[in-house]
Amino acid sequence: MIDFQHILNTIVEEISSEPDKGIVATYIPELAKVDCTKFGISLLDNNAKLYSSGEANEMFSIQSISKVLSLSMAFRILGNDLWNRVGVEPSGDPFNHLSLLEMENGIPRNPLINAGAIVIADILVTQLKNPKQEFLEYIRKIANDNSINYDESVAKSEKETGFRNYAAAYLIKSFGNLKNDVEEVLDFYFHQCSLRMSCEQLVTIFYIFSNRGECLQNHRYLDLNQVKRINAIMLTSGFYDEAGEFAFEVGLPGKSGVGGGIVALLPNKFCVATWSPGLNKKGNSKLGMLALEKLTTTTALSIF
Ligand code: DON
Repeated sequence: MIDFQHILNTIVEEISSEPDKGIVATYIPELAKVDCTKFGISLLDNNAKLYSSGEANEMFSIQSISKVLSLSMAFRILGNDLWNRVGVEPSGDPFNHLSLLEMENGIPRNPLINAGAIVIADILVTQLKNPKQEFLEYIRKIANDNSINYDESVAKSEKETGFRNYAAAYLIKSFGNLKNDVEEVLDFYFHQCSLRMSCEQLVTIFYIFSNRGECLQNHRYLDLNQVKRINAIMLTSGFYDEAGEFAFEVGLPGKSGVGGGIVALLPNKFCVATWSPGLNKKGNSKLGMLALEKLTTTTALSIF
């Protein structure tokens, strides 16, 4: 039997002595305030056993990790019609890149780059009566935890500086692939990105993707084919122009956020989350990636 607790403790110890912790995101001013020496890791196995080490209970801004959750909600509502509005190919470009969008007529390459997540936000704004409230309730229900909330100061901070997201949204709208008002869609998008969670809360939610669509309370959120497709998109597109590197080093489907979180999973085995706010040049957590590489190399547990 693998001693996950011992492995996580060892990872935290090794990570703490890494001299280069990366650089915190500054383009959203509120995120620049976070202490880059923080590190947490949690792993939830498919026997529902939770292991944690470091600052695994401290909440942080999940940012782009939320794109997987909004995708799952839109997929539940629209089914395969969703793929008329957004593609499933890796972009090989940074998360906020715009030129592909222009060349491909406003159909974003995939739902995990910003442009794709903005189209998903537009779908939810169309489909839900109170989009922000209903999305929050969906997340709280999966987590079985009503303490999860948006961070209004982070949402506001991003709204004030989110020029590239405005550019993407208007470009998509010019091609007719955004049905609602840009302000309303981006207000939803900035709020979903501002969700605050700890590593422990993240693994509890992403458990549905490692546990064939069912949460810890055995409620089904997604069918097996939907889980297969979302996990495939995480593998090919979860790390933008570093998706190849993440597959090569870690070998798991996963998703990063500029708040320094990463969540990854091995289907039917475990779900793992790390938090280290310092990012590498591609906008992914530097030490989070290193920690996950250590985990899958030590245990020889990966999809490959
Ligand atoms: O839209 C943005 O730029 C941010 N709210 C999210 C970007 C992000 O997390 C990219 N991930 N690594």
